[in-house]
Amino acid sequence: LRDDTKHTVAEAIGFTTYSNSLPTVLTYAAIFDVIWKQIELYEQLQVHDRMQKEFINVAAHELRTPIQPIINVSDFVKSRIKDHELREFLDILNRNAKRLKKLSEDILDVAKIESNSLTLIKENFTFKEIIPDMIRDYQNSTDNRDIKITYGILDTLVVYGDQSRISQVISNLISNSIKFSSDVVSISIKAENKVINMPNASSKEMVVIKVRDAGVGIDKDIFQKLFTKFNTNSYQGMGLGLYISKKIVEAHDGDLWAENNKDGAGATFSFSLPI
Ligand SMILES: Nc1ncnc2c1ncn2[C@@H]1O[C@H](COP(=O)(O)OP(=O)(O)OP(=O)(O)O)[C@@H](O)[C@H]1O
Ligand SMILES: [Mg+2]
Repeated sequence: LRDDTKHTVAEAIGFTTYSNSLPTVLTYAAIFDVIWKQIELYEQLQVHDRMQKEFINVAAHELRTPIQPIINVSDFVKSRIKDHELREFLDILNRNAKRLKKLSEDILDVAKIESNSLTLIKENFTFKEIIPDMIRDYQNSTDNRDIKITYGILDTLVVYGDQSRISQVISNLISNSIKFSSDVVSISIKAENKVINMPNASSKEMVVIKVRDAGVGIDKDIFQKLFTKFNTNSYQGMGLGLYISKKIVEAHDGDLWAENNKDGAGATFSFSLPI
């Protein structure tokens, strides 16, 4: 259709439609002009999208690279010295470097989600491969409170998903439960099977993971926009954890929801995954 030797669209198609009336030629010209402009715009957007994805990947690498040695070296030096005060300084260094790492990872995850470039590497795994180690890390953290976490998920339960992304979801939920508890930190992690009836009369088997705490419960103003970005009432965090977690679970065809406990203090966050 396109004659690139002509200067304008009207010229390019005018010749072939010359026998028609002038208004018809102009109408065709206008329509083709709009279509070509849309195509050009679409091509520009694709280039922009590719550049944004490349930027995200480079930025992810560049941000993470200098933070990891700070964490490793502070861990190493701490294991070598006995002085109590110096060990506390190293803890401060280590804690803040880890916070910075988490913040940069969260910001990059949001960028990935919003540019549709969050990719999942799926495999079969069991929760015993991820949760017990995670619990140990939280219990050995420098938090002065007594952190009690009970875990009751069958070792034989196999899930097909991105192990590291699902770990990220569970870790976000545990860290919230710890953060939004006062003196007593008591968390239980359980799983139950659920069969969901689909609109086409078939049924789908899901596993529902429940993280229940005995903390302060979800504030009612926060609850209204619980899974939106930057919705936080904490001075420690940006309000990205639940937004990212929900997107990760949805990318696995599951869902994430929350309720305040009716029988006792605290909140329960649950997420489903197909099995
Ligand atoms: N277990 C919980 N108990 C009570 N409130 C919670 C709990 N988990 C989340 N919330 C509420 O939901 C808000 C959003 O949680 P989210 O994890 O997205 O952000 P954050 O923890 O404040 O910051 P970030 O996760 O970015 O470090 C929290 O600020 C808090 O008000
Ligand atoms: Mg959080």
